[in-house]
Amino acid sequence: MYNLLKGKRGIIFGALDDMSIAWKVAEKAYDEGAIFTLSNTPTAIRFGQIDELGKKTKAEVIAADATSVKDLENVFKRSMEVLGGKIDFVLHSIGMSLNVRKKRVYSDLDYNFLDKTLDISAISFHKMLQVAYKLDAISEWGSVVALSYVAAQRTLYGYNDMADAKALLESIARSFGYIYGREKKIRVNTISQSPTMTTAGSGIKDLTGLMDFTERMSPLGNADAEECANYCMVMFSDLTKKVTMQNLFHDGGFSNMGMSMKAMSQYNKSLESDASLGD
Ligand SMILES: NC(=O)c1ccc[n+]([C@@H]2O[C@H](COP(=O)([O-])OP(=O)(O)OC[C@H]3O[C@@H](n4cnc5c(N)ncnc54)[C@H](O)[C@@H]3O)[C@@H](O)[C@H]2O)c1
Repeated sequence: MYNLLKGKRGIIFGALDDMSIAWKVAEKAYDEGAIFTLSNTPTAIRFGQIDELGKKTKAEVIAADATSVKDLENVFKRSMEVLGGKIDFVLHSIGMSLNVRKKRVYSDLDYNFLDKTLDISAISFHKMLQVAYKLDAISEWGSVVALSYVAAQRTLYGYNDMADAKALLESIARSFGYIYGREKKIRVNTISQSPTMTTAGSGIKDLTGLMDFTERMSPLGNADAEECANYCMVMFSDLTKKVTMQNLFHDGGFSNMGMSMKAMSQYNKSLESDASLGD
């Protein structure tokens, strides 16, 4: 431990169970000396394990639907009350698509579901930032991070309407990052994480095959949830005060690859087996 977050107050949205990226972030933030609150939906609190995480990290759990401005106001107000001051860091680790869940493909989207996808997975980030801004709830040099995915910028088969949500999320980080930086010296960034085996991750089409592919393509291999949490610690710390409005790839190098030796050798094997199927 480096005491990177000693004396800092935070809010962590999106820990569901011990697979969640937000769960690992909470454990690391606790180890790094932060105090914080945890938030998730009433349903997630009921069916997930967040209460256990709250006990372990001495964090109050505050129920909120991140699409509700009223709920978010309550989270920020209550957090400042229990933590004894303004907030230094916020993690938005929230994503959900009903089109993905209900197997509606991208060329046959249900538009009510699309509205929900965008509201939950992207606009909630704007709502969070706007609520915090109006309440003046984040301290100077504070840091806000949301989690994104490379499909925001490159087309990946099967990521569906979540790609559009992530593109919007990354844009919100830039647009609000400008205002928050200019007015309050607050950083707003997204971290674009490798595919990771979590509840939300398992919604991604053929996640196991995709993870094998990205593992072979990335010179450093896939980044796991714990490594993502480590990166969040750096982004919440005072070591990255001038980093803002960025989408930061945390993917072992995947996003800058076109083809790798390992992926090519696997691809060639499938060509051989295709050729043998030909006769
Ligand atoms: N797992 C991956 O492969 C991967 C890769 C890149 C980015 N991400 C992103 O990381 C973030 C965290 O996902 P995860 O993989 O840890 O999965 P997860 O399922 O553990 O976390 C998703 C969380 O979103 C919460 N949520 C859903 N609707 C909500 C609402 N209306 N209000 C508040 N919270 C709500 C869920 O309760 C859950 O805790 C998401 O933004 C996801 O898109 C995940």
